[in-house]
Amino acid sequence: AEKWVLMVTAQTPTNIAVIKYWGKRDETLILPVNDSISVTLDPDHLCTTTTVAVSPSFDQDRMWLNGKEISLGGGRYQNCLKEIRSRACDVEDKEKGIKIEKKDWQKLHLHIASFNNFPTAAGLASSAAGFACLVFSLAKLMNLKENQSQLSAIARQGSGSACRSLFGGFVKWIMGKEGNGSDSLAVQLVDEEHWNDLVIIIAVVSSRQKETSSTTGMRESVETSLLLQHRAKEVVPKRIVQMEEAIQNHDFSSFAQLTCADSNQFHAVCLDTSPPIFYMNDTSHRIISYVERWNRSVGSPQVAYTFDAGPNAVLIARNRKIATELLQRLLFFFPPNSETDLNSYVLGDKSILRD
Ligand code: PMV
Repeated sequence: AEKWVLMVTAQTPTNIAVIKYWGKRDETLILPVNDSISVTLDPDHLCTTTTVAVSPSFDQDRMWLNGKEISLGGGRYQNCLKEIRSRACDVEDKEKGIKIEKKDWQKLHLHIASFNNFPTAAGLASSAAGFACLVFSLAKLMNLKENQSQLSAIARQGSGSACRSLFGGFVKWIMGKEGNGSDSLAVQLVDEEHWNDLVIIIAVVSSRQKETSSTTGMRESVETSLLLQHRAKEVVPKRIVQMEEAIQNHDFSSFAQLTCADSNQFHAVCLDTSPPIFYMNDTSHRIISYVERWNRSVGSPQVAYTFDAGPNAVLIARNRKIATELLQRLLFFFPPNSETDLNSYVLGDKSILRD
């Protein structure tokens, strides 16, 4: 039997939405009810590293997540693998004397090992970085000719928010119009250098797993929330235009105002869902009040906040000076190891404050 193994390793950061995706119009293809915009974190923090390997000696597809084998049976992994295999091309490694033809990919098996560089228990384990990295590394291994946006449409079928992690900087996920999802993909708005004085701080409020998964939550919101209908039709389209403008112009006031308003409306939709979904807790609410008071006392926004499907705060400071001040204030008001269980991860520069 042939003994060779061919491998590719890639690293992908997670992303945080500033205009949120909440609600699917098609659950299988993962097509959203509105556009969304996110910022991709810098790769030193909260990222996934994935190695994919192919060998004639592998007798089935297998995957390990943080060293533990997981089942690939779930539809989402299978959908991504199927999409990528169908686009695979010839691969030749002359040095190793390996030649894989397009048709061989249908019967060759894969081993996939994926690691998150952040504590999975921190409640930040987003599938965004994971599926983006999986699709990207497999596309390299199998020599796909698709561009990043086309790959994003495959990552989308693993986890919606994953499509936005194929790019750095600020990224828009265009909801698309087609029924088959071919135009529901991510595009880069500006690269990571465009607005590099922003500093993102993630305050881990609770390391507990969320109670309602985003899939279940979205389904219930789509089925029961009138506010979601209004948001998707009337509110988000305008905010997308304004947010793109704010990003292009480095307009922090407008950026912060839109980011906070959109996070609050997403959580209002959750509350408007039947039965209601609570992702934020008392500490989250205290952080919001605190940031709002600070911004008002200065007279213009210094910090923006946004919360996903959990209580952890993502805080975006307008520059490093404000970020330093914010950290000092957070650590003073929410001392780590108190009952609030707040640890702070500093993103956007090279240090993790506590872990
Ligand atoms: O892609 P999912 O299923 O993990 O959903 C993500 C939903 C939010 O994080 C709440 C919003 C977003 O746009 O990322």
